[in-house]
Amino acid sequence: MDLETLKAVLKPNRIVEDQQIISGFTADWTGRYKGHTTALALPETPLEVAEILKWCSNNKVAVVPQGGNTGMVGGSVPMHGEMIISLRKMTKVEFSENSVGQLIVEAGASLASIQEKSLEMGWMFGIDFTARDSATIGGAIATNAGGNHVIRYGDTRKQLLDVEAVTGLGVIVGGVRGLVKDNTGYHLPSLLCGSEGTLAIVTRARLRLWAKPDERVVVLFGLDTPEEALGLIEVFSRTSQDILACEIFFQNGVNLVSNLFGLETLWEGKHSTYLLLEFAGGNGVMDRLNTGACGELLNEFGSIAIGEGKANRSRLWSYRSLHTEAISSSGIPHKIDVTIPHNQFLDFFQRINSVVKRCDSNAETYLFGHAGDGNIHVNVIGPGENDLKVDEAVLEFVASLGGSISAEHGIGRAKSKYLHLRRTSEEISLLKKLKGVFDPAGILNPGVIFPE
Ligand code: FAD
Ligand code: MLT
Ligand code: ZN
Repeated sequence: MDLETLKAVLKPNRIVEDQQIISGFTADWTGRYKGHTTALALPETPLEVAEILKWCSNNKVAVVPQGGNTGMVGGSVPMHGEMIISLRKMTKVEFSENSVGQLIVEAGASLASIQEKSLEMGWMFGIDFTARDSATIGGAIATNAGGNHVIRYGDTRKQLLDVEAVTGLGVIVGGVRGLVKDNTGYHLPSLLCGSEGTLAIVTRARLRLWAKPDERVVVLFGLDTPEEALGLIEVFSRTSQDILACEIFFQNGVNLVSNLFGLETLWEGKHSTYLLLEFAGGNGVMDRLNTGACGELLNEFGSIAIGEGKANRSRLWSYRSLHTEAISSSGIPHKIDVTIPHNQFLDFFQRINSVVKRCDSNAETYLFGHAGDGNIHVNVIGPGENDLKVDEAVLEFVASLGGSISAEHGIGRAKSKYLHLRRTSEEISLLKKLKGVFDPAGILNPGVIFPE
């Protein structure tokens, strides 16, 4: 890559060639994907992103867009020496004065900074997950990230009113105009949300916010079967308007978390299954929970922990949210993020262990996830990094149940060769044609979504 002509059109320091700095951007969070490159671009404005992409397209230089590099499917790693375009320098978050409850953000703003600004202005942002301090809104839009509050507010696509992005040709499209209703042909925000950096680089967005709850309450149930958890999910989803999160996890994950982080054992380890529910709303959340069908259930169960204050809520959440880190500390996991139709959930839970064991009898399977959305993270420790038998078997099993091979993490590089399990060949060919329109030179994230 001869970068001199690119550097000539940019301000100084926008292109980094120092390998010591670059090495902080070339491996993914899980440790599974390790790439390399000679160039890292750090643009500070949408126009600079456009200049860089124009140059890359003219010079046939492939690029990997990158936000916080917390992705789980290898989409932000330059596996073949692509230039990294990092949005980390574009972090502005502004409350929009000409609308009700909207933010205008730059792509590199972290989720935490967006949550903080929303609360400061008396509102709530609808997306939350553990990587909030590092993950960027550009990455969340690119992956259509989900997380803990989808059951209430929907995924990232549902928060996105407008988006500004730069196509593979270096053309700026869209904007941050953000009318709530705007039916003027194809909806660019929907199209770019979930496109994983293959159609355009997101530079700015306009986000909708929600009313800020007055109170939040966390309830953790210790249960003996997934069936019991499914019953509770059904009742609480139907009867509580305050439900905010609905998470499931199991004893082997809790053991890992408790040992690594020194957390107290839950109910002497006598339960196999845990369901964590969070409720949020106007004053009186606990009183509302104590009435009707919810109240009966709360009284009926022996193993229940309730967290009302912030410290107690986050203590209960830590058993769930520390799973990712605890599992990674015991090896490089095969991370298989899937959705299961609600009516197939029991079958899934009954058979998933044997599906894994058939591939590797020594493998350890950790299951956790956003049960209210049917989204389970199947994490398998044991099989070698390049031994994909288990990934293939789990994805085929999920597809056979009518589920999706990617619930919220995207396809990335990890699942590109399995796309056919969820999409027809006609759909894949249409999606590829769309990519050709946005990125005729094929420079944007080659190998992501579609196999190389
Ligand atoms: P990156 O990892 O940098 O990139 C992800 C993808 O988006 C890549 O394909 C990249 O090329 C593309 N991309 C990044 N920025 C842009 C841009 N500006 N324009 C175009 N393309 C871009 N995800 C969930 O959905 N739900 C969870 O609950 C969740 N929990 C997590 C917990 C932990 C501890 C960790 C480490 C990760 C978790 N994730 C979760 C995964 C990850 O955080 C999300 O996928 C997040 O949206 C990625 O954001 P990022 O800024 O780190 O993007
Ligand atoms: C989570 O829900 O914790 C995440 O999606 C991260 C993971 O899958 O490990
Ligand atoms: Zn998740």
